[in-house]
Amino acid sequence: MAKHALPVWSSKWVFVLAAIGAAVGLGNVWKFPYIVGKHGGSAFIIVYLVCIFVIGLPLLMAELSIGLLGRGDPVSSVVQITDQQRKSRAWAVIGFLGILSCTLVLSYYAVIAGWTVHYAVLAVSGKFSNTLTANDTHTLFDQLQNNPQTLITWQVLILVITGAIIMRGVQKGLEKAVYVMLPVMVILLLTVLIYGISEGQFKQALIYLFHPNFSALTPKITLVALGHAFFSLSLALGTMVMYGAYLPKGSSVFKASIWICLADTVVALVAGMAIFPIVFANHLSAGSGPGLIFQSLPLAFSHMPFGRIMGSLFFIMLSFAAITSTISLLEPPVVWLKTRFMLSRPVATGIMLFIIWLLGLGSVFSFNHWQDASLWGKHFFGWVDHISANIFLPLNGFLIAIFCGWIVHQYIKQKSEIGINGLAYSLWRFALCWLAPIAIIVIFYQGLFH
Ligand code: PHE
Repeated sequence: MAKHALPVWSSKWVFVLAAIGAAVGLGNVWKFPYIVGKHGGSAFIIVYLVCIFVIGLPLLMAELSIGLLGRGDPVSSVVQITDQQRKSRAWAVIGFLGILSCTLVLSYYAVIAGWTVHYAVLAVSGKFSNTLTANDTHTLFDQLQNNPQTLITWQVLILVITGAIIMRGVQKGLEKAVYVMLPVMVILLLTVLIYGISEGQFKQALIYLFHPNFSALTPKITLVALGHAFFSLSLALGTMVMYGAYLPKGSSVFKASIWICLADTVVALVAGMAIFPIVFANHLSAGSGPGLIFQSLPLAFSHMPFGRIMGSLFFIMLSFAAITSTISLLEPPVVWLKTRFMLSRPVATGIMLFIIWLLGLGSVFSFNHWQDASLWGKHFFGWVDHISANIFLPLNGFLIAIFCGWIVHQYIKQKSEIGINGLAYSLWRFALCWLAPIAIIVIFYQGLFH
């Protein structure tokens, strides 16, 4: 069994760093600020925080526990637990759905991560000059979308970097990458924050983000917040099961999970506090949607002092944040393939990368050649995103909650690694048995039919 061959993180802290690296990504810096902007600022943030700590945290603990007790890729981990507990092996579907979702999500995540590298290059080469107009930034964005060669070049670069890290294994690859990239990312983010405070409309941004405005709360906002909490914490894809499988003995799942949730939330909030002052200082709209980062920010940077340097740092930071997430998405499918077909790590990595690259081409062409080739109103990228985010993720989140809350909770409790007991344990179980499944059914329904 893979059990004995599995490596472990050098320390608990490296694990926490790696998991923070997985959680912090485009979701925090690109998506969070624009969905906050779209859904009424502070009202959204309050619901989001509740979702992270009431539903996200218990599920994160459940996933890490599966990895820690099963000690294998997401499929082997679940099978190891079901065999040990004499439960049905059908629960392995949790692992399969996770691996499939990682493959689908990585296929388009690598393409979007490629945009950030493209923008880093544009910024460094001085394209965000002070003569830039709103029209120009739209054109720059359109030019990128309409140029499959450029999109593929950056997609391949991201996949090759990700593969090179994964091929080297846990301690030599993942750990080293995270040690370098995470601190650099944090320093760059703080630099942009200080810049936002000194050059932008910081006070206006704080009011926008934190002044409670409950009148803006709607059921739809709650659903968007819950869906994003899942995505941001990298839940239901098997990545946290995989990272949990490498935990050293004696780690507390609860403490690690708290750190991950706090860090992920703080980074998202700091990203908002860095971006909105710059947006407001340039009289741009906070609710401009996905283009906030790629269209509004370049425009803002181009009109501000040190804009070229800050723009470059910002997009380099975003590329690093993306890569610490892409590695977490590639690891589970690679380890599964390696274990299942007894391949070496480099061979398994090569095969998975090729599959993901091919699938990713579909997303690349969705922005240009295949833009009009839609099936039931969605093009290829739309379908991959819909199937993974709106179907597989909620479904798998639901199964994980039921599996850990109802089926193997005793086993998780017996092994003390979960790190809680008494009332805290009862609350954790209540969240898994009731809160998470009910909330997920509601999102699932909305995601599918609205
Ligand atoms: N959590 C990452 C983000 O916020 C996205 C991600 C999801 C990464 C799932 C890995 C696995 O961008």
